[in-house]
Amino acid sequence: MLNVAILISGGGSNMQRLLEDMDETHPGCARLVLSNRPEAGGLAKAQAMGVATEVLDHRPFGEDRARFETELHKILKAYQVDVICLAGFMRILGTDFVSAWRGRMLNIHPSLLPKYQGLHTHHRALEAGDKRAGCSVHEVVPQLDAGPVLGQSEVPILPGDTAQDLANRVLEQEHLLYPKILRTFLTRFEPPS
Ligand code: GAR
Repeated sequence: MLNVAILISGGGSNMQRLLEDMDETHPGCARLVLSNRPEAGGLAKAQAMGVATEVLDHRPFGEDRARFETELHKILKAYQVDVICLAGFMRILGTDFVSAWRGRMLNIHPSLLPKYQGLHTHHRALEAGDKRAGCSVHEVVPQLDAGPVLGQSEVPILPGDTAQDLANRVLEQEHLLYPKILRTFLTRFEPPS
């Protein structure tokens, strides 16, 4: 059984779907939900589902990202985490941290990567006049949103869509895609040497 940590910053709807999927047939066990924001709504949801939570507020660390990431690493090690799922975790992680977790960290991103890495993906897709949008689950590498894509789901962009309409339509697909990809990833997982 592989120990999974889910990192969040907000409402945690993707986290909730991952937790719901982690039944006795699942190759992973949710060891920890960690947020960098104490007010993240996902923390209460995780606690209600019986999962341990931690808060590591990034603000006291100021510009010192390395020290924040050292603390994060310590917590993950204390929980004997094998695999990290970023699920709306809105902090960019540095090269040292990402390298230490290479091959063990997934992210969900609300665009059809390699299009629209970074923020405001739905707004940018609408501005570009795209006909399709979607989401991607990918392995995390030091370059932002650039790791190998493990799966994608597409949705149409409809006339008159706002960025919020599109975000809602894509989020529905995120909720289906991420649990599916995590199961497959863990089933095939071999610890990187
Ligand atoms: C999701 O749409 C996720 O793809 C996005 O944040 C939202 C979190 O929602 N992630 C990113 O933009 C990462 N760059 P949730 O907290 O309800 O899962």
